[in-house]
Amino acid sequence: MTTPQLITRADELRLLRQQRDKAQKTLALVPTMGNLHAGHLSLVETAKTLADQVMVSIFVNPLQFGPNEDFDAYPRTLDADLARLAEVGCDLVFAPSASTLYPEGQNHQTRVLVPQVSEGLCGSKRPGHFEGVATVVSKLFNLTQPQVACFGEKDYQQLSVIRKLTQDLNFPIQIVGVPTCRDADGLALSSRNQYLSSKERSIAPGLFATLQQTAAALTTGNRQFHHLEEDARAHLAELGFAPDYYEIRALDLTAPKVDASAWVILAAAFLGKTRLIDNLEVRLCDSGRGGQDPSNPV
Ligand code: PAF
Repeated sequence: MTTPQLITRADELRLLRQQRDKAQKTLALVPTMGNLHAGHLSLVETAKTLADQVMVSIFVNPLQFGPNEDFDAYPRTLDADLARLAEVGCDLVFAPSASTLYPEGQNHQTRVLVPQVSEGLCGSKRPGHFEGVATVVSKLFNLTQPQVACFGEKDYQQLSVIRKLTQDLNFPIQIVGVPTCRDADGLALSSRNQYLSSKERSIAPGLFATLQQTAAALTTGNRQFHHLEEDARAHLAELGFAPDYYEIRALDLTAPKVDASAWVILAAAFLGKTRLIDNLEVRLCDSGRGGQDPSNPV
């Protein structure tokens, strides 16, 4: 078990890139905000199968947090993260400071705006969030220059935004979506789960269970999207959630069509102050949950 090499500066990345090119080795990047759990480790496991070296970036990106969100409280656990990454055989960790990524300060930073897919859902509930994500991911891509980058499907809209920016900005990077890891009761793993009280934690699996109920209704032929969404929101409220949004969309996040054979149901809901998100794809006549198809970017 070897501790990954810790890099904090851009010039170190450049040197490593030169060495990698010389040795004709490929790199897979796993961008994270740290506080790593089994979901992140499954991204690393996938990344290991796709390139010679794996780099995890750890950066709590201030640009993607709104003024009333949990930027200050977001758990920073670098030592524990490095230990977990050593266990799964991650080669490199890039953990820059805010002044490395935004040397002139956030307000003077050029931004990346991804139209359409950034709109609605989390995009309208968290104004500026996807601009912050797209900006930091573009910078990480330029700094680290990977051949492959892995992201979790739990953040379905984020993955769609990243696929589009990669295509639109001509990054020569393969974007790979990795299925959501869940606890045994169905709750999607998230760093924010640790904010839940024990009562909230007992209610939390209801979010995925509700998505499964809507998926079952779609599978058995119900196409009354608005009714299904309203019923699900009411059900979540009964369970004790404050639903933020609950929407059925086409896989490319446009409006759902009744004659389609696949949809994605996306949900965000508060339990107390903690905002949970989750999603579920529904594919008719499917042999299983496929996730976003890397060869068919949305
Ligand atoms: O999903 C996350 O952890 C973050 O949004 C990301 C992609 C690392 C950008 O800060």
